[in-house]
Amino acid sequence: MRRSCRAFAIIPMAVLGLSALAGCVDEKIIFRDRDLFEEPLAQAANFLGYSDQAAQLTVCGNCHVEKQGDWEGTAHADAWETLQASGAAQGFCEGCHSVNELGNAIDVEAGYNTTFEDRYHDVQCESCHGPGLAHVTNPTDLTVPMAPLSVGIDLTVGCGECHAGSHHPFVEEWSQSRHGDMNAYPQGRSDCESCHTGEGALELLGVQTIYSEFGTVVDDTDNNLPITCAVCHDPHDASNPGQLRMSVDDPDVEKNLCMQCHVKRAVPDLEDSPGGTRGPHSPQGPLLLGVVGDVGWLPPNFAYNIDRIRGSHGSAANAGLCVGCHVNSYDVNDASGAFVVTATGHLFKPIPCLDASGAPIADDSCAVNTTERTWASCTTSGCHGDATAALSAYNAATTRIDNLVAELDALLTQVVTNDPTQINRGDTIFTVAEGAQFNMELGEIRSSAVHNPFMTEALLVASIDEVRDEYGLPAQTNVSLRTMWPQFVPVED
Ligand code: HEC
Ligand code: HEC
Ligand code: HEC
Ligand code: HEC
Ligand code: HEC
Ligand code: HEC
Ligand code: HEC
Ligand code: HEC
Repeated sequence: MRRSCRAFAIIPMAVLGLSALAGCVDEKIIFRDRDLFEEPLAQAANFLGYSDQAAQLTVCGNCHVEKQGDWEGTAHADAWETLQASGAAQGFCEGCHSVNELGNAIDVEAGYNTTFEDRYHDVQCESCHGPGLAHVTNPTDLTVPMAPLSVGIDLTVGCGECHAGSHHPFVEEWSQSRHGDMNAYPQGRSDCESCHTGEGALELLGVQTIYSEFGTVVDDTDNNLPITCAVCHDPHDASNPGQLRMSVDDPDVEKNLCMQCHVKRAVPDLEDSPGGTRGPHSPQGPLLLGVVGDVGWLPPNFAYNIDRIRGSHGSAANAGLCVGCHVNSYDVNDASGAFVVTATGHLFKPIPCLDASGAPIADDSCAVNTTERTWASCTTSGCHGDATAALSAYNAATTRIDNLVAELDALLTQVVTNDPTQINRGDTIFTVAEGAQFNMELGEIRSSAVHNPFMTEALLVASIDEVRDEYGLPAQTNVSLRTMWPQFVPVED
């Protein structure tokens, strides 16, 4: 049972394009330059591995030339070499650096783990897609090996079978993050699924592909996938660092990975709810970038005559943007300097609380100080000299915004006391008070003070002025409003 196909590994993949695929499946064209694969040993359980190991041509890659080319650029294609070069290779290391039952639906030892053959070196297509023999010998039948999108928190399938353990606890961290947590509200609601489920998110990101769970969980009211690894990472894309599906450093909401979802409602949605019913909903992307008009309600008197109001956090000074603060990886060592765990940054927390060993945890209930939390993302970037400096910047910005929110809140209370209809989000009239309330809610999101203190303050200050003018209210005397404003200097690109 051998099939032949043209060997083209030394010819640039792009030139061959689809003709290679046709060459493999069109029975009128028979290439006999080289065998597509050697019959695998019985104990390999139908894994095929490399067609040409020296050229790192996978059997799959003979036909799927584009995927082969993209995969070659990923670290998965170097996994065996990296292991050997480490000087620490031992038998038990090899499973995660080769093709076998890890990462796919097979649950008995297979591939490298039963044959120890070189053709199974590296993390190849079949690591995720599973054994390919049936598909390769009959590519058009229905035995296509689909990779799982699920991550396997129980470590029985998917990326998690390898990306786990103290040296790389991606799954352990991710599963405790909000991305790894499936809430009930979006299920079966197409307007929510695009950001709140794994299946919906792939569609949102333009991925028109099928995977092993495809069609089985969408709309299942109990069982949607969370924002799994393969939502953010594309195993066949090396064009962004870290196999990311999209750029994370592009300061454009259309092109930035995180901002595909963290962008739901940054301005009042008057089309769907003319009364301004809804407050901000994941406004982080537009707020960070601070383009005037893209975030917050702009009071008619909004007089800052510039295109953009933002701090250094949203500028080239923090090139990683969201990821610069929210995905921070470092080793945790104990007092004697011995390795404890690698923090992977996949809790997505910028200033996480720490456990007794100094490792970041998901629980957010600790105090905001420099002993119970790490401020490493603020300091290792070189932006803040030390944790104390970062904490005091955080406290200063938070206090200023809290004061403005309190002032606006007091004014809005007076407005409603005088005329309750001014804040009636159930009607179809959008009032100044309702606009100001939207901005107040933006200020109430604690992170707004970090994401963009200047824009948040500009919106609050203008809202306060507008509400006073509109409703003829006196200034609040108990709050020192403009303490910060004279210092405001917009950041240049
Ligand atoms: C001999 C050529 C050939 C080889 C080798 C091959 N494939 Fe395929 N593959 C095809 C063809 C042709 C299709 C399209 C099948 C169809 O649509 O009916 C396909 C479809 C697929 C699909 C589904 C894509 C889609 O658009 O539906 C996946 C996934 C896939 N192959 C993965 C693999 C993997 C993994 C390997 C290696 C184990 C592999 N293929 C090896 C020819 C090949
Ligand atoms: C549970 C699966 C697993 C086992 C077992 C395993 N590795 Fe890895 N290894 C990985 C993963 C996943 C990565 C990628 C981690 C990353 O990118 O942060 C990796 C990366 C590496 C790297 C690249 C540098 C780095 O740390 O990112 C080296 C070197 C390495 N492993 C060596 C070893 C050695 C030596 C052993 C045995 C002592 C071993 N691995 C055992 C899964 C494993
Ligand atoms: C690290 C895991 C992993 C590796 C390695 C991997 N894939 Fe995939 N593959 C996936 C996942 C997950 C999907 C579905 C999501 C997507 O398309 O990005 C997928 C999708 C695909 C599809 C698209 C199916 C469709 O419906 O269009 C093809 C074809 C494919 N892979 C082939 C390959 C080939 C060929 C290789 C090796 C050169 C490879 N894959 C390596 C995980 C992997
Ligand atoms: C069979 C084990 C295995 C599976 C399954 C696996 N990985 Fe990996 N992955 C590794 C190893 C080992 C490395 C490190 C290779 C090296 O540094 O040479 C790695 C590296 C990576 C990297 C580093 C990025 C780069 O290319 O520089 C990313 C991102 C990654 N894996 C994501 C994933 C995702 C997402 C999945 C599931 C769709 C997955 N991996 C499935 C073993 C695995
Ligand atoms: C464009 C992407 C997007 C869409 C569409 C979307 N959301 Fe969200 N939503 C997010 C993001 C991102 C967060 C988390 C960030 C935050 O809390 O600000 C979030 C947070 C939430 C939260 C708060 C989560 C919590 O546990 O505190 C609720 C509730 C929520 N969304 C409900 C919904 C509902 C209901 C829908 C459909 C009507 C929906 N979302 C549609 C992106 C979206
Ligand atoms: C919300 C998006 C998101 C999700 C979900 C996600 N990651 Fe990541 N991942 C990132 C970002 C962003 C980086 C940082 C890339 C960089 O620094 O260049 C990263 C980095 C990594 C790296 C290190 C890449 C390198 O260059 O060494 C690995 C490995 C990885 N992720 C694996 C996983 C695995 C496994 C999962 C699922 C358990 C996962 N990721 C889920 C966004 C995500
Ligand atoms: C596919 C959509 C999607 C993408 C892409 C995405 N997120 Fe999220 N994110 C969400 C949703 C939805 C939630 C809220 C989940 C919940 O609470 O139910 C969330 C939650 C979060 C939270 C936790 C908020 C809290 O209140 O604790 C942070 C932080 C976060 N995301 C950061 C990021 C970063 C950084 C990136 C880019 C690397 C990113 N996200 C990419 C959808 C996404
Ligand atoms: C300068 C560092 C920094 C940058 C850049 C940054 N964040 Fe944050 N983010 C924080 C801090 C600090 C918090 C507050 C954490 C806390 O109080 O526990 C936070 C909180 C959040 C939250 C929780 C919302 C809440 O309830 O307060 C989400 C969601 C989030 N960030 C997403 C993002 C996204 C998406 C981006 C990119 C558009 C981003 N962040 C950029 C530092 C940053």
